[in-house]
Amino acid sequence: MLVLGIETSCDDTSASVLEAPRRVLSSVVSSQVEFHKAYGGVVPEIASRRHMENILPVIESALKEAGVELQQIDLLAVTRGPGLPGSLLVGLMVAKAIAFAKKKPLIGVNHLMGHLFSPFLEKEVEFPFLGLVVSGGHTSLYLVEDYLKIRCLGQTRDDAAGEAFDKVSKLLGLGYPGGPVIDELAKGGDPKAVPFPRPMAQEGYWFSFSGLKTAVRNFVLSNPDFELKDLLASFQEAVCEVLLLKVLKASEEFRISKVVVAGGVAANSRLRELFLQAAGERDLEVYFPSPKYCTDNAAMIALCGLELFKRGRRDDLDIGVLSRWPLGDPL
Ligand code: KG4
Ligand code: ZN
Repeated sequence: MLVLGIETSCDDTSASVLEAPRRVLSSVVSSQVEFHKAYGGVVPEIASRRHMENILPVIESALKEAGVELQQIDLLAVTRGPGLPGSLLVGLMVAKAIAFAKKKPLIGVNHLMGHLFSPFLEKEVEFPFLGLVVSGGHTSLYLVEDYLKIRCLGQTRDDAAGEAFDKVSKLLGLGYPGGPVIDELAKGGDPKAVPFPRPMAQEGYWFSFSGLKTAVRNFVLSNPDFELKDLLASFQEAVCEVLLLKVLKASEEFRISKVVVAGGVAANSRLRELFLQAAGERDLEVYFPSPKYCTDNAAMIALCGLELFKRGRRDDLDIGVLSRWPLGDPL
């Protein structure tokens, strides 16, 4: 069985061909970073225009790379939300058109679900597991018992972890996206140099990163000559430590020893180091997708579409995009 995955929820246009059960035949991602750089963040109008230009060539190269013709595709899996409505619409409309023309089933997939199961593209993880999704738009912790049994333990009250990286980078004039830049510039810095707060450390499974960004701004205003790499390493440490702390708390409370860390921020080298170090010290197994599957990609959408299809899900051709679409049931 062959699945064509399509993902256009934010600023990456992506398409992937997946052969059941989980062989990625192609995963093409066309980044728009160059077009958004000058603005220090994603401009929704530019994003949807670029998706319109890119989507067909990206699908064509995904099919070509996989050595597959469009008529061989058995299932269309497309990101339905959450995300930027204008961006989501482009992917959904193209997926619907193909499904209609080729008379193939269509499944709208939750983008967060894609991230959550992205490590499965490379390695099976046994249920139940704790899933931390940390990206530019989301920071959420889940208890996952099956593809259809997901409980949300908590999420961010304000900025997402990736958003904090992007905003701190912007306020320091370091460029966009901020995560990879800070990751690199913080190397060799002292993570204890500035005692930034560990936001919401005591508040259950909630997160908050907007105050941390303000703390960085205030610190820079009163210490303009401070060593940049120490400042960045300290900020990064505060984000990573608070993420680890919540996962360890959940692991103890629910007695779950498997942890998936996914989404763009899961590419962060210090985050990976801290989680792997914690895993080495206790009964904990941590699974990260490889960096190419941390950030937005259509292979993770194809995988979830296939699993939902196997569980009987089918969507009508009149489904619309969902710019907000919480994943899982609350605790
Ligand atoms: O998952 P993703 O590609 O898109 C969303 O769904 O948001 O995540 C993008 C986010 C951006 O905020 C980016 O700065 C962050 O992931 N990111 C990183 C790293 N690489 C990407 N954050 C920290 N360290 C990194 N190495
Ligand atoms: Zn994402």
